[in-house]
Amino acid sequence: MEGDYYKTKETVKEYIRLAKDVDGGELINKLKEHLPSNANVLEIGTGPGKDFLILKEFYTVIGSDNSTEFLRHLIDSNPQEEFLELDAISLKTDKKFDGIYSNKVLHHLKNEELMDSIKRQTEVLTSKGIICHSFWNGEGSEVFKGLFVNYHSEMALKGFFDPYFEILLLETYAEFEEADSILLIGKKSKI
Ligand SMILES: C[S@@+](CC[C@H](N)C(=O)[O-])C[C@H]1O[C@@H](n2cnc3c(N)ncnc32)[C@H](O)[C@@H]1O
Repeated sequence: MEGDYYKTKETVKEYIRLAKDVDGGELINKLKEHLPSNANVLEIGTGPGKDFLILKEFYTVIGSDNSTEFLRHLIDSNPQEEFLELDAISLKTDKKFDGIYSNKVLHHLKNEELMDSIKRQTEVLTSKGIICHSFWNGEGSEVFKGLFVNYHSEMALKGFFDPYFEILLLETYAEFEEADSILLIGKKSKI
């Protein structure tokens, strides 16, 4: 499970600094092809909040994280916005969303936890709701900076999501290196 990297003031500050030039603008452009503007979107693992601000240009967005330190940063930087303390696996909220977005978050879940999260996402979504998630492409898992990191292939992700979602897009992209990442967009349709 997770170590402290996303939990302490110093390491969260370090993460925000290291990630300052990276955002999911390209992923959100793809999401826009499937999810109409003004839809209600939940972001899981909002972290520094760069994607949150891009999402907000098109959607009504609630950010979330399971790290109180990231939440503190998000609330301080965006005092008018709504953020929830949510774990990606249990997503304990009564709210419903037309879309759920995460960028490099669900790779921190073990396979069984990812399955639980996917099922829970179908409950939190409105009918025909859209998901948009990114993952690290690869096989196996490792612990990096004390954090559990689970790599997935396109085929493995299809296996996880296909029972619950019509897969609208499943493709590799480059975050740092060619095809090091995978984007999955799906529509709730099978349950
Ligand atoms: C690699 S960072 C990505 C942050 C942000 N999405 C971005 O693209 O910059 C992972 C984020 O997911 C959060 N996170 C990790 N495991 C989580 C879980 N089980 N539930 C909710 N958030 C989680 C971390 O606190 C952190 O903010």
